[in-house]
Amino acid sequence: MTAIPQPAATAGNMDWFVHDRFGMFIHWGLYAAAARHEWIKHIEEIPDDIYDKYFQHFDPDLFAPEEWARMAREAGMKYLVITSKHHEGFCLWDSAHTEYKATNTPCGKDLLKPVVEAFRAEGLRVGFYYSLIDWHHPEFTIDPMHSMRNHPDAKKWNETRDMAKYREYMREQVRELLTQFGDIDIIWFDFSYPNAELNGLKGKGHEDWGSEELLQLVRELRPGIIVDNRLDLPPEKADIHTPEQFQPHAWVTVNGKPVHWETCQTFSGSWGYHRDEATWKSPEQLIRMLVNTVSCGGNLLMNVGPTARGLFDDRATAAIKVYADWMALHSRAIYGCTQSEFTPPPDCRYTQNGDRLYLHIFAWPFKHLHLPGLAGKVAYAQLLNDASEVRIFDDAANKQEWMHPDALTLELPVQQPNCVVPVVELFLK
Ligand code: GLC
Repeated sequence: MTAIPQPAATAGNMDWFVHDRFGMFIHWGLYAAAARHEWIKHIEEIPDDIYDKYFQHFDPDLFAPEEWARMAREAGMKYLVITSKHHEGFCLWDSAHTEYKATNTPCGKDLLKPVVEAFRAEGLRVGFYYSLIDWHHPEFTIDPMHSMRNHPDAKKWNETRDMAKYREYMREQVRELLTQFGDIDIIWFDFSYPNAELNGLKGKGHEDWGSEELLQLVRELRPGIIVDNRLDLPPEKADIHTPEQFQPHAWVTVNGKPVHWETCQTFSGSWGYHRDEATWKSPEQLIRMLVNTVSCGGNLLMNVGPTARGLFDDRATAAIKVYADWMALHSRAIYGCTQSEFTPPPDCRYTQNGDRLYLHIFAWPFKHLHLPGLAGKVAYAQLLNDASEVRIFDDAANKQEWMHPDALTLELPVQQPNCVVPVVELFLK
């Protein structure tokens, strides 16, 4: 048996977060029209006047945030984090501090407020992703991430740019986001690159962002809000740590200490809508990502990139349905659960919530599973999908040849239940 890690307390209200486990990330902006990755302005080094075509044609006429929210709730997602502004600098809300916003496109309206209202109406909490990076703002200095990083005049342009003005712009926008949309539960800043360097152009870190001042403002405006770890501040200043695009296989630690963590992942290979990107994950991968994450004490923030018509496309809708079908029968093996003190058998994971232990079976065995360290500890077992009893063989005095001496043996049906990942619910004594 292994002790369950206990992260140190931080400023944010973590109780709901640790219980809810599963959220929806939404990446939506002008890049949805380009439809080939949210970093397209950087990748193709597109100048503002060319990129402006997406601004001129952004008109998500089929935008129906209540549909998005319904699908998120049905998928078992308990909170939303949406890109209020991504690296391109375009703002989804009617910010008083820029003209580069949804209200000035053919769309002609604030897109953030309807999303917040729709998701709250479905009972989800709401968080904002806010990009520290801004490839459109005139005072943001050209740096190794900037779309104009290779332009011959980059350094000359920087001579007349003033990051102090950009820091003020960010503070005022964060103030808008944390005062005009009700009680926001998460602010998700992205991201710092203090050690980057390209042709004499330097990266950006906490001094460039004014991170201390920005965090102080956030904590003043929303004391219990959860803040991520991408401001380039000491790790203890963050409430959550945010590995992405890989699967942690143990509780995430920073400087050897366990932390609250949330892994963010994509259905395919892009955060923003990408028409031609085909690496969409299988149903098994999608469910196993959620189970693997919670079995190590983390949260999963699963991303959707809506189209420039304002829809989740059929691939995203199908992926969300995979979660909806599985969570409809298995959500209590996720909500309120965390890493178990017990070690699971091969090809299985445990999640645990007090005296309920959930055995997630990734490879269906022939008839028996042997659970080490659980001899004498389990009162009853059932398949979670239909609450059908799973017979336990646990009598030390009557071990059969197919039983293990120090393990409890489960007898399973030969055929796998019709679930992407079947779960046995164990009632501990
Ligand atoms: C990375 C990507 C960025 C995305 C973020 C989500 O920083 O570059 O586009 O928004 O991950 O975690």
